[in-house]
Amino acid sequence: MPKKARALAIYVLNGPNLNLLGSREPDIYGRTTLADIEKMTAVQAKKHGLAIIFRQSNHEGELVEWIQEARTKAAGVIINAGAYTHTSVAVHDALRALDCPIVEVHLSNTFAREEFRRHSHISPVATGLIVGFGAQSYVLAIDAMASLIEKAVV
Ligand code: DQA
Repeated sequence: MPKKARALAIYVLNGPNLNLLGSREPDIYGRTTLADIEKMTAVQAKKHGLAIIFRQSNHEGELVEWIQEARTKAAGVIINAGAYTHTSVAVHDALRALDCPIVEVHLSNTFAREEFRRHSHISPVATGLIVGFGAQSYVLAIDAMASLIEKAVV
C-alpha cells in the first residue's frame, strides 16, 4: 500500500440516530451497537494496515465539518449519513470537495424500503455503495476502501 495513504486514517462517519443502534428498530437494523461496529471496523482496517477515525453525530453541520477535516486528514471516507442521506445538499457539497475515495454505507437495503429512502444525495458523489448487509456493510466497506486506496495513490 502506498506510504502516503497508509499514514492517513480512514474516516468512518455516522449520521443521526445511529447512536441508537442495538435498540432502534432491531428488526431493520439488527442488535449490533455502534460501539460494536466501531470495533469490527477497526479490526478489519488493521488487517489492511489501516487505522480508522470513527465518529457519530446527530447534527448536519458537525458532519459537514468532519468531512471538511477529511480533506487533509483522511485517506478515504466511509459514510452512513442516516436520514441526511436523503435530505442533505450540505453533506453532498462537502463530499464533492473531497479528493479521496468515498464509500456510502447503509445497514438496511434502502432501495427495498419506503420511496423516500430510494433517493440518496450521497450516491452521486460516492465512489461506490454498500447497502443491506447490516453491521457487515461496514466491514465490507473497509475491504472496498482498502482496495480503492491501493489503486489510487502510488
Ligand atoms: C440508514 C438508512 C436510512 O434511510 C435511515 O434514515 C437511517 C439508517 C441505514 O443504515 O440503513 O438512519 O442509513
